[in-house]
Amino acid sequence: MKALLDRREATAAAADAVVSGLFERGEKETTFPKTLAKEDAATKGLLHAAWDRREVRGKKGEVTVIHRPDGRGRLVLIGLGPRGRFDHEVVRRAAAQAVKALKGKGARTVAFRLPAFTQEPVTSEAAARAIVDGTYLGSYEFLKYRSTTEGSVEETTLALGEELGRDETLLRKAVDEQRVVAETVVWTRDIANLPADTASPERLAEEARSLGKELGLKVTVFDEAKLEQMHCGGILAVGGGSSSHPPRMVVLEYPGGARRGKTIAVVGKGITFDSGGISIKPALSMQHMKFDKSGAVAVLGIMRAAALLKVPPRVIGVLACAENVPSGTSYRPGDVVRTFNGKTIEILNTDAEGRVVLSDALGYVVAQYRPDEVIDLATLTGAQVVGLGDDTAALMSTDDRLANGLLAASAVTGEPVWRMPLTDYHREMVKSDVADVRNSTEIPVGGMLTAAAFLENFVGGTPWAHLDIAGAAYTTALTRKWQPSYQNAGATAFGVRLVTRYLMDSPRTST
Ligand code: BES
Ligand code: ZN
Ligand code: ZN
Repeated sequence: MKALLDRREATAAAADAVVSGLFERGEKETTFPKTLAKEDAATKGLLHAAWDRREVRGKKGEVTVIHRPDGRGRLVLIGLGPRGRFDHEVVRRAAAQAVKALKGKGARTVAFRLPAFTQEPVTSEAAARAIVDGTYLGSYEFLKYRSTTEGSVEETTLALGEELGRDETLLRKAVDEQRVVAETVVWTRDIANLPADTASPERLAEEARSLGKELGLKVTVFDEAKLEQMHCGGILAVGGGSSSHPPRMVVLEYPGGARRGKTIAVVGKGITFDSGGISIKPALSMQHMKFDKSGAVAVLGIMRAAALLKVPPRVIGVLACAENVPSGTSYRPGDVVRTFNGKTIEILNTDAEGRVVLSDALGYVVAQYRPDEVIDLATLTGAQVVGLGDDTAALMSTDDRLANGLLAASAVTGEPVWRMPLTDYHREMVKSDVADVRNSTEIPVGGMLTAAAFLENFVGGTPWAHLDIAGAAYTTALTRKWQPSYQNAGATAFGVRLVTRYLMDSPRTST
């Protein structure tokens, strides 16, 4: 996919399809939408017929494809729903619906009439960003293992109306930036969708190395021997069960843009497969546990976008990677492991492994880089999915400014996040009789909150935000029909758009 901005009506008219948004029509409303005024008389005739018969009503999700009588390609009308409920997320979904409607129909190029997607509270820049997101993400498919595919839209033109054409500079910047972000989401989804036999901890390290080479980032990979020397007992314990796919910790460093600001660490859970280990999971849905690396893969994406967009802060990315499988060398319930920062963990359940690998990664990054802020992303708990569903991530934080900055980024990007509490009650619950903390409480009470309280032990007072992305990291067939049209089967790369936005806005939110 390629997104362009163009002021010439001729470019739009020459596309294989032109997309226009339509607001939902009131019962008595008869005025023909003025955004369709540019169409030729014959096409307008067709549209009028459909409009008068109320077959085109602008309802949310409504897609109408009209072939222009003169053979100049198609006109695609996307319902935007009521004017009063319009926002950038409506545009994001509309754009994805349009490219999906054109899939397999031979349309290679598509033009969006930007004024038709621009109305309070959605500025033309916000609409442009949402269209770039919607077209790139909506047409995404994981194709690596498929021998056939239907043709998708390859190029999106954002066609400016006269009123928007006057000052293109901001619009052009928005499109250029969002193209990088959306392309990065696609890149991230391609890695996150890889199965566990391929996407081993070492493979994730290789992805980091080649990204580092391409973008000039410093990349350090710690293997088992090095992790041993560093006393990273958490990652070693979790990864110890796998003889074929040994654990890795990967660190990527982006030095910071021109207006060099603070240092932000972004840490991801990278369990390449979570069988539960000795505390083995039931077979049902275990295939989804290849997505248990989604936090770490999102960190790779965030580093890619940060470097390409030259975000102001220095950013340190850490991937805590291990495969959690049962074997004679697995860690066991009852074991006590010593982590990088010296704290000990009593293992009660080997399926609560994410927090165990993160303990080393968080401890290491705060000691080594003294960041101003730490953000972690992890598919950490089933309780998160039960509590907030499979579209919204949970945010738990020790710092209101950081938390509010992430919520602000969520509002702009459309990746939903909801803040959850972190209290002394939950801190007490993760204390252990034999070690400093325990990795499970044995009771199904507030599992998402106690997991966060556990992690707090490893950030040493650094302002910290934890994003539990267990539900939002991937989609399954069970809820696909209700998911936004830009979330296709498999990995969503949740967090890439959100955290990248946060990093881009970082100086503003920190003052
Ligand atoms: N990877 C899982 C969490 C998960 C569940 C992610 C469903 C995505 C979808 C995690 O490692 C896990 O198994 N957590 C346990 C912790 C419990 C044993 C304390 C859980 O939430 O059940
Ligand atoms: Zn687990
Ligand atoms: Zn897990």
